[in-house]
Amino acid sequence: MDNERITSANINAGELRSEVNLRPQYLDDYIGQQGVKQNLKIFIEAAKMRGEPLDHVLFYGPPGLGKTTLAGIIANELGVDIKITSGPAIERAGDLAAILTNLNDNDVLFIDEIHRLNRSVEEVLYSAMEDYALDIIIGKGPSARSIRLDLAKFTLIGATTRAGSLSAPLRDRFGVLGKFEMYTSDELKKILGRTAHILGVEIDEASLNEMAKRSRGTPRVANRMLKRIRDFSQVKGNGIIDIDITREGLTALGVDGLGLERLDREILTTIIERFNGGPVGIDTIAASIGEERVTIEDVNEPYLIQAGLLYRTPKGRMVSKSGYKHLGLDYGGDDDDTEERQVTF
Ligand SMILES: Nc1ncnc2c1ncn2[C@@H]1O[C@H](COP(=O)(O)OP(=O)(O)O)[C@@H](O)[C@H]1O
Ligand SMILES: [Mg+2]
Repeated sequence: MDNERITSANINAGELRSEVNLRPQYLDDYIGQQGVKQNLKIFIEAAKMRGEPLDHVLFYGPPGLGKTTLAGIIANELGVDIKITSGPAIERAGDLAAILTNLNDNDVLFIDEIHRLNRSVEEVLYSAMEDYALDIIIGKGPSARSIRLDLAKFTLIGATTRAGSLSAPLRDRFGVLGKFEMYTSDELKKILGRTAHILGVEIDEASLNEMAKRSRGTPRVANRMLKRIRDFSQVKGNGIIDIDITREGLTALGVDGLGLERLDREILTTIIERFNGGPVGIDTIAASIGEERVTIEDVNEPYLIQAGLLYRTPKGRMVSKSGYKHLGLDYGGDDDDTEERQVTF
């Protein structure tokens, strides 16, 4: 995956370090996601009053929307330790057992990309989540017996870009489900203002608006955009970000008026030029472009759909009338079959 793209919602190594101080630490600094936030506030409060662990929480939604950040905030608000790992990092059941036996009461275990846990590891989680216990088999053959090991009463927070890939038994063991939505321009503007303040960079209102509008609803994209435009303003201007430098920088970065970049436009033009606007299957699109299917599905599609440029139909992906229009292409079809094309599932 190309992590250098300005609109890539995936994290790169340099950012992993610098994002630490950009991440809000408490709920009050966390902008947007009102639905998830308000419920969590109550559940956290209640858990603290009872002196019990918070129920297990599953966060799902596209990358860069603040799932990891919110997991850290939960631990801070609860005043407990957080242990962070990810689905692919836990290779064997024993690895998970080692992590679990090191937790203290009420601690948070955060498992990112939880849909990528392998089956044998996942099965260990079931009893851990439900009974705070591990079942261990000792010995072999007829003399083998199972012993139960008690664990600390912990909270599991899982994050995934695709809730649909989680097995039902795992999904059912989460008491709290939080669906992450894309951010509004207003919310992104606040996040950009906050980041500019932390970075100590001066930026005008018009630039904040412009970046918010072109950040595809995603704080990680917004923060990255601000940093790149800051580079432009330092090298080509006087270090202050104004609308001229913002527009010039975004053009140089290949980010268009809606925040689309090369790959997004390539997805749309490929569907239009090679598949007559669709419907065409995701694997065919991925093969035509030479990009991984998961990248298109997790990173590009959510925003193209949200922006109304692309539809997902049972027969495949279709470019909408607005999609054609955005690319400056003629939409051959009937105007009023747009409604029918909006079959989402
Ligand atoms: N609600 C928010 N308010 C302020 N900054 C945010 C918010 N959500 C995300 N961010 C910023 O966006 C970046 C990506 O967030 P992250 O939690 O890593 O997303 P995810 O885990 O969903 O991929 C972080 O630098 C974080 O500081
Ligand atoms: Mg994350």
